[in-house]
Amino acid sequence: MDKETEFLTSLDEGRLVEAKDWMPDAYRRELIRLISIHGVSELMGALPEKEWIPRAPTLQRRLALMAKVQDEMGHAQLLLRLVEDLLAPVGRTREDILQDLFESRQKFHNVFHLEVPTWADVGIIAWLVDGAAVITQGMLLKGSYGPYRRVLRRIVEEESFHLQHGESVCMALAEGNQRQRAELNAALQRWWPALMMFFGPKDSAQGSRHQAINLRYRLRTESNESLRQRFLTKYVPRIRALGLVIPDPQLQKSAEGPWTYEEPDWVRFHEIINNRGPKSAARIRLKSTTYAEGRWIRQALAHTVI
Ligand SMILES: [Fe+2]
Ligand SMILES: [Fe+2]
Repeated sequence: MDKETEFLTSLDEGRLVEAKDWMPDAYRRELIRLISIHGVSELMGALPEKEWIPRAPTLQRRLALMAKVQDEMGHAQLLLRLVEDLLAPVGRTREDILQDLFESRQKFHNVFHLEVPTWADVGIIAWLVDGAAVITQGMLLKGSYGPYRRVLRRIVEEESFHLQHGESVCMALAEGNQRQRAELNAALQRWWPALMMFFGPKDSAQGSRHQAINLRYRLRTESNESLRQRFLTKYVPRIRALGLVIPDPQLQKSAEGPWTYEEPDWVRFHEIINNRGPKSAARIRLKSTTYAEGRWIRQALAHTVI
């Protein structure tokens, strides 16, 4: 049995891979890709939410949003540490990942390239984007890389607080006056197509070539479509219970079968994740500037003896 076959067999037997273990190059590559997209998404997702902290409608909402932004930055930190360990044997560093981001070579989730024009958008993000993320991350928790599983345990716990905060914001708006209800519904119209894209294309014909490899390496245990179906089953009834209208006339569930829905625009999806979304360039620029401005702090910390 060659090394790769032996590795795959051990994964099938439920073995967890650790940072210093031997792993095939393709496994390391996929893992770096998966965790760096996750980590950078946490980093970039905090930017539009941070902008809303001074504009939150009450002190309590402001504190909750501040705590959420802090959590997301912590998630980015934990995840980029994992990537750092995986990059070391191939001679790359965490700095390289950030440099890739600044030079537009690093991907992050489609939802974090979009505009956040109202407080209702902040509520929809915390409720439904974090809700979608919990579904994906709950699946990744069963993956074959031990360090990622352990970090995800903490992240998923915190994400479930975020979605409760988001649900509370959305419920308050849904129970508010006519203007607040209209604002919430308008935010849902803006975010629905992005939420349907969030889980990625169904199969390789639509551009999901990494899915099969990740399933084989047990880095993931469910397909994109299975996750999207679970999201619809959990959230469509809750969204409708708030009196909101989901902008998809084809959306329905048969008694036993899966949900049917309007196929997302995958061409647009690929444009967005290749940093050609409405806010991609501005957010990457902002992150690059703040990273450069914070260099002296990192240098000072690196030279501090504790
Ligand atoms: Fe997070
Ligand atoms: Fe979150």
